[in-house]
Amino acid sequence: MNLLFIGDVVGSPGRDMVKEYVPKLKEKYRPHLTIINGENAAGGKGITEKIYREFLEIGAQAVTLGNHTWDNREIFEFIDDAKYLVRPANFPEGSPGKGIIFVKINDIEVAIINLQGRTFMTPSDCPFKKADSLIEMAKARTPFIFVDFHAEVTSEKQAMGWYLDGKVSAVVGTHTHVQTSDNRILPGGTGYLTDVGMTGPYDGILGVEKEAVLKRFLTSLPVRFEVPNTGRTLLSAVMIELDRKTGLTKKIERILINDDHPFYS
Ligand SMILES: [Fe+2]
Ligand SMILES: [Fe+2]
Repeated sequence: MNLLFIGDVVGSPGRDMVKEYVPKLKEKYRPHLTIINGENAAGGKGITEKIYREFLEIGAQAVTLGNHTWDNREIFEFIDDAKYLVRPANFPEGSPGKGIIFVKINDIEVAIINLQGRTFMTPSDCPFKKADSLIEMAKARTPFIFVDFHAEVTSEKQAMGWYLDGKVSAVVGTHTHVQTSDNRILPGGTGYLTDVGMTGPYDGILGVEKEAVLKRFLTSLPVRFEVPNTGRTLLSAVMIELDRKTGLTKKIERILINDDHPFYS
């Protein structure tokens, strides 16, 4: 069972990279399941129904979100009907949408869980306790459980990796937009990567026009962050091979495509 996960797609440059490379990545890695983090897909802020559908048409079977879930108001119109859209499960009780979904791949069911960290993030329920209850429920159906942990600090992400080691197939971090090089299989068999990185503008700052971000750092004045529509782009992803019986990770490989790391088919 091969699983391809693409990190935070930012704006139209990110969506263009997904369109260009998902077919190539599918040919190279033959994933059974493709998941995209789309929290920044609509101009850097949230996602629209059109973009969500575009991702499914390109061949994703699930789209995860994060702290930008509610940034595009259109989300409220379609999230409850979007079967393959997952927002952080530890958002306050009663929030629209789902924090866990089950996707059927041939005869195998895969649970996909989205959680958000609490350090330097907007307040939410405890992601560790939420993970416990969701995993207990998912385990009754399948050993294949993928966790997108959307969090700021590396320590909280490593803590989640160790906390869930042996209980889920893989824990992969999102949100920082910078890929870490610590992909590994934890002793209990859970695949782990602190952050998969982003997909979109390569010469900005976390996907945003660098001039605006620099101005903020240099002057502390309020500035408007925009996603640059021209310039070089990158795609960040991870490929995870899961054991067909146990659901645990056999191999976890980082994927980075940009001018400094060209794609080889
Ligand atoms: Fe993001
Ligand atoms: Fe985020």
